[in-house]
Amino acid sequence: MDKKLYIPGPIYVAPDTLQAMTRPMIGHRMPEYATLHESVIGKLRQMLHTEGYVFLSTSSAFGIMEGAARNLVQKKCACFANGAFSNKWHNVIERCGLKADKISIAWGSPVTAELVEKTLASGEYDAMTMVHNETSTGVLSPLAEIAEVMKKFPEVSFIVDTVSSMSAVDIDVETLGMDCCIAGVQKAFGLPPGLAVFTASKRAIEKAKRAEGRGYYFDFEEFAKNAEKHNTPSTPCISTIYALDYQLDKFIAEGWENRYARHAEMADATRAWAKKMGFDLFAAEGARSNTLTCIKNDDKTDLAQLKKLAGERGYAIDNGYGKIKNETFRIAHMGDFTMQDMEEIFALLEELLPQVRN
Ligand SMILES: Cc1ncc(COP(=O)(O)O)c(C=O)c1O
Repeated sequence: MDKKLYIPGPIYVAPDTLQAMTRPMIGHRMPEYATLHESVIGKLRQMLHTEGYVFLSTSSAFGIMEGAARNLVQKKCACFANGAFSNKWHNVIERCGLKADKISIAWGSPVTAELVEKTLASGEYDAMTMVHNETSTGVLSPLAEIAEVMKKFPEVSFIVDTVSSMSAVDIDVETLGMDCCIAGVQKAFGLPPGLAVFTASKRAIEKAKRAEGRGYYFDFEEFAKNAEKHNTPSTPCISTIYALDYQLDKFIAEGWENRYARHAEMADATRAWAKKMGFDLFAAEGARSNTLTCIKNDDKTDLAQLKKLAGERGYAIDNGYGKIKNETFRIAHMGDFTMQDMEEIFALLEELLPQVRN
């Protein structure tokens, strides 16, 4: 049975968006592709408030998370780890044979500007990684405050996973001074997986040119060279890029502020609903995600059974992730979802919960 996806990625994709993927194929070295690419990059630049480099990578987000390490970690990376994805990023960087320290933060808590400042003050690092919106815990870290601190460390590349926040939360790449900001389109963009969107500052591209062993597929200099021709280093997933172009038009028609407000409203409603149903939230107050809510199990609820029953009705919700897999469950509220979609899942869960609670 097809399921309506309320899992935090891949998320539900609207039928009109899927339809946009069925346009006839074009070659990526044909002028038609350059036109499509330029159109998409122009809209992404508008969204991210930048005239700088915005690239498309035919990979999932981890491709560019690894690529950012290969291009930008040349001395040692400080990896701020407050959940499963930020922890894994540290592991990925080490697997590339690069030096990295993991700065562990309690799951459920955000990365703080104070911790970033204290860590980088040692002078050991030339790069830092953090996850803006930890999809495993539903925690949103205070990017603007951290960005202020990062201005004191211009020699440290500021590399941010915005995988599950980009397009749902306003991100001003230039004002924040980010060197690299990465997203996967299967989250808030409301698209099928297979494409990553990322930015690179001019200083990141200059630094990348000096990186040894950065390979080919994720070489940032290759992306920059190809960008001049409105193109990508290798064959991109053109059908998904058609759909991205279509989605971006929808975002613009809705209006950026309205889009961000809609995500905030759905998040507020989901938190309130969870509390009304007697659950606690996993993320610390003041650091809660606008794209997904991570709910603590009250130990009375059989989550496996809840997921199963929801699945039989054509809906998918998700357990927690990583070490909190069985202690929490997650409801996504991102992409094309509206309050009506949220009311739909709340009503279903209200019907099912009494059957799985003891
Ligand atoms: C915050 C975050 N970072 C990274 C990833 C990995 O993305 P991908 O599976 O697209 O490589 C995910 C996926 O869920 C994520 O939520």
